[in-house]
Amino acid sequence: MLFMVVASCGGSAPNVDHAEEELSGPPQPWAEMDQAARTVYMAQRVVPTMKPLFQAYDAERFADFSCATCHGANAGGTFAMPNPDILALSPTGSPEQHQMVRDYPEGVRFMFNQVLPTMKTLLGAQEYDAEAQTGFSCYACHTSAEATRSAP
Ligand code: HEC
Ligand code: HEC
Repeated sequence: MLFMVVASCGGSAPNVDHAEEELSGPPQPWAEMDQAARTVYMAQRVVPTMKPLFQAYDAERFADFSCATCHGANAGGTFAMPNPDILALSPTGSPEQHQMVRDYPEGVRFMFNQVLPTMKTLLGAQEYDAEAQTGFSCYACHTSAEATRSAP
């Protein structure tokens, strides 16, 4: 499944990281957690898990990794996601998406192999289902550059 998505994204053979297998989801279903419980979980589990991944990807750029790295200007306010301050993504197969893969080959690999599966596991979220358009995808964090076509 992951390979299919990566292949459709035009990336070269990825080094799939299995770090997420050691992780578990939240103590209660994410959907049932209130804002306070989510805030605590983000601080106690999400940041300590994600920070070393981002810093291994680029130590200098993510030296100040924090809530704002993912939440942008929404950090400190509603923490609403997706975050319009980071790169907006275009649908798989579109010329814009192919260009994004050319512009950020390492970034796309890092996102697919590490950020996406780790965050999905941390939230106890479902695998993305392209047909039903349900489950956890890049669009949990990134906005769609083509809001009318939200499927990746
Ligand atoms: C690695 C990226 C990442 C980092 C870092 C991060 N978050 Fe989040 N956060 C998310 C994602 C993704 C969601 C949306 C989950 C979902 O699909 O509902 C979220 C959701 C939330 C929510 C719930 C928002 C809502 O609308 O219900 C709160 C509150 C929150 N984060 C607070 C924080 C705080 C506080 C920090 C820092 C201690 C933090 N987050 C760090 C990715 C991140
Ligand atoms: C948990 C949240 C989250 C998820 C899920 C996520 N990203 Fe990201 N992405 C980020 C953050 C945070 C950054 C860094 C933003 C910044 O500081 O510029 C980023 C950066 C990027 C970049 C730019 C890389 C660079 O070096 O500048 C690309 C391209 C990207 N993401 C693509 C994707 C794709 C494709 C997916 C789905 C496979 C995805 N992202 C899933 C949070 C996420």
